[in-house]
Amino acid sequence: MTTSRIAGFYNLPLGQRLEKLAEASGFITEELIALQTSGLTLDQADHMVENAIGTFALPLGIGLNFIVNGREVLIPMTIEEPSVIAGASFMAKLVRAGGGFTTTTTEPEMIGQIQVLDIQDLFSASMKLMEQKEQLLAEANTIDPLLTKLGGGARDLEIRIIEDSPIGPFLVIHLIYDVRDAMGANSVNTACEKLAPRLEQITGGRAHLRILSNLADRRLSKAQCSVPLNELAFTDADGRVFTGDQVRDGIIEAWAFAAVDPYRAATHNKGIMNGVDAVVIATGNDWRAIEAGAHAYAARDGRYTSLSTWGKDKDGNLAGEVEMPMAVGIIGGATKVNPTAKAALKLMGVKTASELAGIIVSVGLAQNLAALRALATEGIQRGHMSLHARQVAITAGAAGVLIEKVAAQMIAEKTVRIDRAEQLLKSFQ
Ligand code: MEV
Repeated sequence: MTTSRIAGFYNLPLGQRLEKLAEASGFITEELIALQTSGLTLDQADHMVENAIGTFALPLGIGLNFIVNGREVLIPMTIEEPSVIAGASFMAKLVRAGGGFTTTTTEPEMIGQIQVLDIQDLFSASMKLMEQKEQLLAEANTIDPLLTKLGGGARDLEIRIIEDSPIGPFLVIHLIYDVRDAMGANSVNTACEKLAPRLEQITGGRAHLRILSNLADRRLSKAQCSVPLNELAFTDADGRVFTGDQVRDGIIEAWAFAAVDPYRAATHNKGIMNGVDAVVIATGNDWRAIEAGAHAYAARDGRYTSLSTWGKDKDGNLAGEVEMPMAVGIIGGATKVNPTAKAALKLMGVKTASELAGIIVSVGLAQNLAALRALATEGIQRGHMSLHARQVAITAGAAGVLIEKVAAQMIAEKTVRIDRAEQLLKSFQ
């Protein structure tokens, strides 16, 4: 059985980690090798974008300790920022003690928008569309027979009258389209384009834009967790003691700041997206779509706010929740072309896009917890410093054993700066 607890993983030599990962996940090393190499070949890249001349690599690490809906899951995370993978893994360990993450995901319904202009009477055009709704949905379902066969397809039509805009009133039709295990942009855009002439016929208008909405608020994923108080208590590097109550209340106070202030909410949500994007990228999904959906959803009530909430559960433990649109797929696009993305999906053992969505929001919640816990106690810099110091040492020209030596000295001096790294490097050489 897979375990996501791999004690001492960080301290293993890099060359041994893949083997250890294979052992913990029950795969053979060869099946996961694409996690270690930049899997995308030049030829594949050439088929993906125009004017290709290369590929761009980022670090890929493993989020450990996660239990999501009772299942142990090892989570590939692609990110250049230090502390994110360590933070998420550490918080997943605390959450584990409270039973792990629980997730719920709605049906994978995307929204396609068709803007119809030049309509004489918007109200009567809307009525005509409503009368023909069933027929229009049936027509939409013939557009992608494979998707319909898999249980997806058109679910509903919503008509919106835009009364006031810089170009005057117009009609917007939302095609609600179940895309099953795909991200869905292609299916939805195709359906919108194919349905548009019929909408013109019925309304007497001119179909203009035909495109999916990234505010995928019918495709939401929610993660919840609770952390026992004793897991929150700790003593920091300077010997300061933080009790479980203190840490819990500090986290709730930090969340309250984001709940009411957009300046703080943007940073708070950025922390959530540190975790979310890392998995979205590792699985070859469209992180710009996820970012757009997340922030639009955070502003859905007219004021930008936190995507997560933190409070106390009935036993006084810390309880957290995050909810956001999660338009990710496990079929099509880069998820199937990029060998690293394929290996990432394999490692997580996800069978549906909804399952992947649940894992992603769990990592987002873990990451949010890591940031708030640090901010509410010892501050964010200490945790950042050791990895940051290594990057500064490398930038200053350190290589091999000197990286660690220069970094350790800078941390001991509490001075992590490029000029100091250069001085130290000279003195050690
Ligand atoms: C840094 O990448 C993310 C944080 O700023 C998030 C937060 O402030 O909640 C630490």
